[in-house]
Amino acid sequence: MYLEQDIIDQIQQNNDIVDVINEYIPLTKKGANYVCICPFHSDTNPSLTVSRSKQLFKCFACGEGGNVVSFVRKYDGLSFQEALKVLADRSGIALPENYSSEFSKEKRDYKERLIACNTEAARYYYASLRSPRGEKGLEYFKKRKLSDETMRQFGLGYASIDGAECINYLKSQGFTDKEIIDSGLGVYDEKKGLRSKFWNRVMFPIKNLGGKVIAFGGRVLGDGEPKYLNSQETQVFNKSNNLYAFDIVRNCRKDHFILCEGYMDVIALHQAGFNNATASLGTAFTPGQANIIKRYVKDVYLSYDSDGPGVKAAIRAAKICREFGLSCKVIDMNPYKDPDEFIKNLGAAEYKKRIDEAKNAFIFEIGTIRKQYDLNDPDANTRYAEEVAMLLSDFKDEVTRTNYIRACAKEMGVSEDALSKLVSQAASSGRKYNVSTEPKSGIHSDDKKEDGKTRVEQIMLTYLSEYPALYPQIKNILSPEDFVDETNRAIAEKLFMDMDNGIVNPASIVNMFEDAERQSKVTDSFTTYINGLSDNSDVETAVVDIIYQIKNNAMENMKNSGKPINPTAFMKMKKELMEIKKIKIKLPK
Ligand code: CTP
Ligand code: MN
Repeated sequence: MYLEQDIIDQIQQNNDIVDVINEYIPLTKKGANYVCICPFHSDTNPSLTVSRSKQLFKCFACGEGGNVVSFVRKYDGLSFQEALKVLADRSGIALPENYSSEFSKEKRDYKERLIACNTEAARYYYASLRSPRGEKGLEYFKKRKLSDETMRQFGLGYASIDGAECINYLKSQGFTDKEIIDSGLGVYDEKKGLRSKFWNRVMFPIKNLGGKVIAFGGRVLGDGEPKYLNSQETQVFNKSNNLYAFDIVRNCRKDHFILCEGYMDVIALHQAGFNNATASLGTAFTPGQANIIKRYVKDVYLSYDSDGPGVKAAIRAAKICREFGLSCKVIDMNPYKDPDEFIKNLGAAEYKKRIDEAKNAFIFEIGTIRKQYDLNDPDANTRYAEEVAMLLSDFKDEVTRTNYIRACAKEMGVSEDALSKLVSQAASSGRKYNVSTEPKSGIHSDDKKEDGKTRVEQIMLTYLSEYPALYPQIKNILSPEDFVDETNRAIAEKLFMDMDNGIVNPASIVNMFEDAERQSKVTDSFTTYINGLSDNSDVETAVVDIIYQIKNNAMENMKNSGKPINPTAFMKMKKELMEIKKIKIKLPK
């Protein structure tokens, strides 16, 4: 069972979006709205606009938008229900028990206990590192050239040889055996009972997107196996949907992120001033992680190990990045093993140079393939070209593919035409995409047309929500059924109904949709303006034109639907359409 819509609305009404966002990022007043730097992409301009009257936010640079629940959800990486819970708590609203089996209060509370347990352990390890029993740990970090400030920033700690110490501490703080085990900190041993998972290791706390400790990585002090021991996945630790140090990285205000393999690499880079370095969490880079990164930047620089496995891992990560539309470059760490060692030996300035010289990951990849062929042998040369062509045929988007073919042809010293032919052959042999040059333009313009239709509808809904005085004047002309776009039609139905009752609550309408993408689209329907309208009289004229376009699109759709048309109804519509241009809309001055 999910929360009733009116409880959701109540939570929303008690959490003014301006106040809530202001608690995360300071807002500045600008006209009727508030603005701030958008936390969902890297920017230095205040592109995120918050409207108190609509209770919506919208970033006009990256497109992210929604109501207060969507904001909290995105900012803290929470589910819809989790975000509701945060806001309900903030405003002292009690949620009904068991409103969602997936997200019962019990389960929520338990997750919070597991986070509390991890947080408490982090405090304990942190204190241990600075106590006499942590001397060895401190010495280790110092040997690795970490400053006190860096150790503090990353909350580094030490799990002493006597694992029981931490377990006893957690117990003294009221955590049960089950909680200690479920939080990933304890393991159960038949003979010895509850034991600490981590002992005699330096500890790296792992935080979720909201900055709460959810797990640990622990490194042996010298050589030993395993080198790193990580918390297993728990109810609060999902390895593929979190990134190391991301609570810092998300606010780094850079237009690219640096992706590394190891915790120490990230830390060394931050210490050297690269506060945009992150890493996966003891596993290979995952699509879930690409998806998170994509919300902030478009460019990823890979700073993986320079050895064979590192190169392979970089190529795999780059492929995932590409699938998510992230552009990817590879930073050359040679002759050093990894960024940590590179920085230690050559310093930040040299690393910066390597960033500037970083190669496009695909070009890097074909470079590694080239090394497998003896290019003095013509046959080997051909096979090399074929292998590259096969990879190129993976690019489904024609423009991207063409660009890559051009770049590769240049890199390989073959003609663009010849390589292009090979790619077509590779594609048709693998049936990867339709290589025939059938006129795509038709489909394309149709797409554009649909976009245009959606857009006028969004403009209409935006102006309606902004100028409720429009509603009584248009409600006999325009009806929700006229909206061609399915989402817009649903929005119009609710908005019109609300307006009949004298209510305008766009943020509540956003709540009717649970998935984030749909919510963002709904927000667009309340924040799509025509540029350059300076006053109400401009709006009055524009609205008439918009209604005409919406009606016209509706008729066109009816004609193209293939369904039988009622001629009388159609004639009536046509007549109405002619009349629309004569309408006079009046807005209060
Ligand atoms: N890793 C792991 N378990 C291991 C080895 C490695 O989870 N047994 C993960 C860790 O997240 C580690 C990353 O893989 O940070 C990279 O491993 P590696 O390159 O072997 O280590 P470094 O990062 O170079 O670590 P260090 O500099 O401390 O030796
Ligand atoms: Mn290393």
